[in-house]
Amino acid sequence: MSLAEFTSSLDTLLLAAEKSLGLVADDAGLEELRVLYTGAKNGQLKTIQKGMGVLSPVEKPAAGKKFNEVRDAVQAAIDSAAARIGSSATTGVTIGGTAAVSKKSGPQVDPTLPGLRPRLGRLHPITQTIEDLKEIMGRLGFSATEGPEIEDTWHNFVALNIPEDHPARDPLDNFYLATAGKNSSDPTALDAKLLRSQTSTVQIRAMETQQPPLRIISLGRVYRPDEADMTHFPMFHQMEGLWIDISVTMAQLKSVLRMFATSYLGGDVTIRFRPSFFPFTEPSVEVDYFWNDQWVEFGGAGMVDPNVLKAVGYDPEKVSGFAFGLGVERLCMRRYGITDIRDLFRSDVRFLRQF
Ligand code: FA5
Repeated sequence: MSLAEFTSSLDTLLLAAEKSLGLVADDAGLEELRVLYTGAKNGQLKTIQKGMGVLSPVEKPAAGKKFNEVRDAVQAAIDSAAARIGSSATTGVTIGGTAAVSKKSGPQVDPTLPGLRPRLGRLHPITQTIEDLKEIMGRLGFSATEGPEIEDTWHNFVALNIPEDHPARDPLDNFYLATAGKNSSDPTALDAKLLRSQTSTVQIRAMETQQPPLRIISLGRVYRPDEADMTHFPMFHQMEGLWIDISVTMAQLKSVLRMFATSYLGGDVTIRFRPSFFPFTEPSVEVDYFWNDQWVEFGGAGMVDPNVLKAVGYDPEKVSGFAFGLGVERLCMRRYGITDIRDLFRSDVRFLRQF
């Protein structure tokens, strides 16, 4: 490259730069041009400057002088474009990441005003409740375990001593899956699949894989084709509890549930047991707490039926145990004074933000 070529390429660049910078209309466009002409890595000025290396020592001082003139002129064109469009990007003073005052175009943002607080997300009240329940039950020696939401009829019914003709297995009371298993259209088939209707399935899975003593809880979603109303929803959460050991008694069941209820709901909570029936416990009870001058059911419980212990290979002569299943939504509602379960699932942030 000759000195004449070097000079002419700088003149061409300056002409183009002044023209495009004279037309640029916004910050983004200006930034693009700044990088194009003055970018430290691949800017056009940088590229031309590299050509200086091949000039003779005699030509270099003149070339350097010309280069500096054009570079300053390009910078002046950038500055005047910035001033014209009120840009803070290239000339602004940066305070805490925000361009605050532009030397050329005057104040843009008043840094003395309070900043905008970013809105933080939070855990859904049901997730918070699940964390609290795990923590309380953990203190009582129960460790958390999980099971699948898509279950087979063995774990959801058969091993839980729920016979084939039991109404709980009715297709109208369950979400059977049409796709899984070759006999899936027949709800009595062992490989039929359904969305689990209770977390008691996890009792079976835990006992199938572990030997007593066993002290577990399992928290998760369950599904029933229940009509949604103030206290029912077709998808809800349960906390299952299971304690198997030598000589576990019903008195321990009541103590654990009372300690749990007072820990989670407060010292003023009264609970009661009401005789009931579940195929997998004998005797069975409904567990109620007193709320708003009435008894509200929050779960079922009982002593694990010997047939269930046998189904998983335990010896009912050697071990006994209790199980319980509580509705997580009802616990959450009682604690926060929520009167309609549907509010929990409407995804209305104005409601959810309160918890
Ligand atoms: C059961 O599901 C038993 N598996 C509980 C159990 C476990 C008994 C272990 C014995 C031993 P139940 O169908 O009653 O029981 O449901 C338990 C709790 O889930 C209810 O008390 C209620 O709090 C909650 N629940 C039931 N259906 C719904 C629903 N549609 N929406 C919200 N919560 C519900």
